Amino acid sequence: MLDVNLQIETEAELLTLHCSTPAQWVAIATDHLPELMSDHANCERKAAAMALSLMKHFSKDTNILSRLSKIAREELVHYEQVLRLMSRMRIQYRPVSASIYARELGKLVRLQSDERLVDQLIICAIIESRSCERFSVLAPILPKQIGDYYQRLYLAEKRHAVIYLTLARTMSSEASIRARLQQLLAIEATLIQQPEAEYRFHSGIPSKP
Ligand SMILES: [Fe+2]
Ligand SMILES: [Fe+2]
Repeated sequence: MLDVNLQIETEAELLTLHCSTPAQWVAIATDHLPELMSDHANCERKAAAMALSLMKHFSKDTNILSRLSKIAREELVHYEQVLRLMSRMRIQYRPVSASIYARELGKLVRLQSDERLVDQLIICAIIESRSCERFSVLAPILPKQIGDYYQRLYLAEKRHAVIYLTLARTMSSEASIRARLQQLLAIEATLIQQPEAEYRFHSGIPSKP
């Protein structure tokens, strides 16, 4: 029987990002808490919608359906928690436009149906992985309540990343998944390092203070 801990380690290693969050983004995070946390709340809501949407591809597998359903519920709980934390800290939620990050990653999804699902799952895994990395750089510098919360979220989002990558690995050969993952990770790194005017949870290098 496969050692679950060993499997998690392997998936997490495969998901090693190609670059860290740029220092310029970290440096101004505390000056952008309303945009950062409003966008984070939106990301949690969209993550729930994505998990629900992926369920239509696994209509015969109740084990996978249960896992995706659980992810969707967890993401909505995170959504509510972020909104509650903002309210407790008197940080005003504001409607914010989406960052270019997820939109640009979404454009990379191939059109053929099997490849499409593989790409969607890999991109979900990468986004979850980047979220974890952002939580880890933000936790020590944000107000303690938010930092503590982000440390707790790290584990949940890492688990989601592993589930998505594990699912992708069941859909195609090991070699093709690894190759596609590395391609998409390389593009993800360019998005994270490109200048971006609006400050968002997954935005690139701030082009304005
Ligand atoms: Fe989440
Ligand atoms: Fe997640």
